[in-house]
Amino acid sequence: GAGELGAYPFYMLKEIDEQPVVLRRLLSNYTDADGQVNMPEELLAAMQQADRLYFVAAGTSYHASLVAAPLFEQLAGVPVTVAFASEFGYHMPLLSKKPLFVFLTQSGETADIRQVLVKVKALGLPSLTITNVPTSTLAREADFALSLHAGPEIAVASTKAYTAQVATCALLAQALGIYLNNDAAKQFDVAHKLTMIATAQQQLVDEKDQIHEFAQKMFKTTRNAFYIGRGSDYYLSLEAALKLKEISYIQAEGFAAGELKHGTIALIEENTPVVAIVSDPVTAAHTRANATEVQARGAAVMRIATESLAQPGDELVVPDTDPLLTPLVTIVPCQLLAYYASLDRGYDVDRPRNLAKSVTVE
Ligand code: G6P
Repeated sequence: GAGELGAYPFYMLKEIDEQPVVLRRLLSNYTDADGQVNMPEELLAAMQQADRLYFVAAGTSYHASLVAAPLFEQLAGVPVTVAFASEFGYHMPLLSKKPLFVFLTQSGETADIRQVLVKVKALGLPSLTITNVPTSTLAREADFALSLHAGPEIAVASTKAYTAQVATCALLAQALGIYLNNDAAKQFDVAHKLTMIATAQQQLVDEKDQIHEFAQKMFKTTRNAFYIGRGSDYYLSLEAALKLKEISYIQAEGFAAGELKHGTIALIEENTPVVAIVSDPVTAAHTRANATEVQARGAAVMRIATESLAQPGDELVVPDTDPLLTPLVTIVPCQLLAYYASLDRGYDVDRPRNLAKSVTVE
């Protein structure tokens, strides 16, 4: 059954492997045979009224929100603000005239988010919860709820919920764009793109031995590590670093590649691991230059590049997809890097110290 470990040593590995299946399940739940996305009409009507979406989330779900924002901006033409739930409720920015709140949350129980939802409701403003647990508090209390269909996620480190969140947001953004008669949405065949991504994810989970070797090479004894990228690759870097730090206890940070030279590069020493993500044609050359810079200062660089941008010597090449969606592909090797770093250090991958799966206190 869904909650059983089977032949897997840890839930995290099982849940990483499940991602292509979850993606296909999402497609069958939210699309027609002809690839058209189906979202509740009342939800689309409410979103149409909004002049800005406020994504409010925590942890991995916050990182998924960062990836989701440009999807809504580009496909539906609606501006998006992304905020930490723990900050937003107590330091609320000036709101737009017609805001709509989106709570991305695996568990649907995070106290930091609940506190925001209570305030939003007191203001009489509309809300949507996108969660893996349709019976959860936040699903019940928001005006609208969408399910992530990822199945129970047991490992504390979130994996399949992250990709399900990004994919669900891509489907919703495209559906909203179509509802708004937006050309960018019409040209974005989201069902086809996600189908191809499921295949790419499958290919990557099938190549996990190769990733294990990189993890051994890069993370065996290091005390710190960096992930760099630009745009969606930067947002992915934040999530990749969180995965590594939460289960391997290596101090890991994600940085906007262009910001390295403005401070962080001072931390680079002989053999400091730097994972550079190169999946966006607009900024690939700049990110590559930043990777070369840290390499010249002794860093052990691993370049993860998409096929069409790959160059000889790149450590890992992953299948191409739309630059807005590449985190759905590049996160898979990063999750595996974290998994093996933790495994090889002998930690309990599924139950990292000091962390809880669902945090119901502020
Ligand atoms: C906890 C978990 C994280 C998760 C965060 C937000 O800190 O350990 O993995 O990302 O809460 O949880 P949510 O259920 O709201 O997505």
